Amino acid sequence: MSIQFGPDYVRAIAPYQGGKPISEVAREFGLDEAKIIKLASNENPLGMPESAKQAMVAAVAEAGRYPDGNGFELKAAITAKYGVPAEWITLGNGSNDILELAAHAFVQPGQSVIYAQYSFAIYALATQAVGGRSIVVDAKNYGHDLEAMAAAITEDTRLIFIANPNNPTGSFIPGQQIEAFLKRVPESVVVVLDEAYTEFLPKEMQYDSIAWVSRYPNLLVSRSMSKVYGLAGLRIGYGIAQAGITDLLNRIRQPFNVNSLAQAAAIAALQDDAFVQRSAKLNADGYRQLTAAFDSMGIEYVPSLGNFVLIKVGEDLGAGARINLALLKQGVIVRPVGNYGLPQWLRISIGLPQENETFIAALKKALA
Ligand SMILES: Cc1ncc(COP(=O)(O)O)c(C=O)c1O
Repeated sequence: MSIQFGPDYVRAIAPYQGGKPISEVAREFGLDEAKIIKLASNENPLGMPESAKQAMVAAVAEAGRYPDGNGFELKAAITAKYGVPAEWITLGNGSNDILELAAHAFVQPGQSVIYAQYSFAIYALATQAVGGRSIVVDAKNYGHDLEAMAAAITEDTRLIFIANPNNPTGSFIPGQQIEAFLKRVPESVVVVLDEAYTEFLPKEMQYDSIAWVSRYPNLLVSRSMSKVYGLAGLRIGYGIAQAGITDLLNRIRQPFNVNSLAQAAAIAALQDDAFVQRSAKLNADGYRQLTAAFDSMGIEYVPSLGNFVLIKVGEDLGAGARINLALLKQGVIVRPVGNYGLPQWLRISIGLPQENETFIAALKKALA
């Protein structure tokens, strides 16, 4: 009998399935890389802002040295933007890092973690990696059912993950409902409010979660620089919470978890409001372009507040995989979501107008 390494709960982990890289699809399907479009990973179709590129280039000269492990300047930029003290900030290697740090810091094997059905895949992974017990609460209209999530809290619950907007469904919970939920959660339970897509929200839907951090010592707000800020490849995100939480996260993170180029780029990007506005507008326009096509084609979709849309491409359980393959053959990469229990659906990241157009044409062919 061969030796089995590691605990059962680690061996039980199903690997994360990311979007296929362009180079891989080119190789697999014999396609020209330049003609492939990728609408699979909720990236910013504009790429990174010029301001961030320049900051990064300037920082290259010092890349032979270790980065500032405390991220002094980046934290100062976050403080300037959101008015939170540096002691409330944890920098992460992507906001993914913040989510995992929370599981490591607050959950022991056997203790429970609550998150919603059809919510971000990393919540399950992070929970399993520490031997936590997942309580997956049924979704309501493809979004979070906060009533049911509050009712699911048990004696041993240590952590709750909420994504707002949610990936992969794009569903959104209005701010008042989240605050009402926070009031009901016992102080011993840490709530991670994952706001990776928050910058895409239209003005009238924005809410002030940073103000809640002052009121709720058990709230950890997580933000990403990968989405609207276009820095996905650099891996950078941050958490905001009172010192009681932040101090622990900072003790267990790798001392140099955010590299110096990423820090430089993030400082510039955070100050580039014009880029954020341009990106959010491009996304809103792209959403209208895609959903108008879905409406005219009679395709069901979940209304989304993120930079992606979940669409139903057939009734049979093989539909998602089949249409995905037909799209790949045409050089269009989107995201199958069978691993989320949504085998009839595909998630489409919103691209440039021309990319959206190419996708729509490819989808029509794939469905024909
Ligand atoms: C809801 C949600 N949270 C967090 C992340 C992690 O993003 P990153 O680690 O690139 O900041 C993603 C990425 O897709 C996401 O969809």
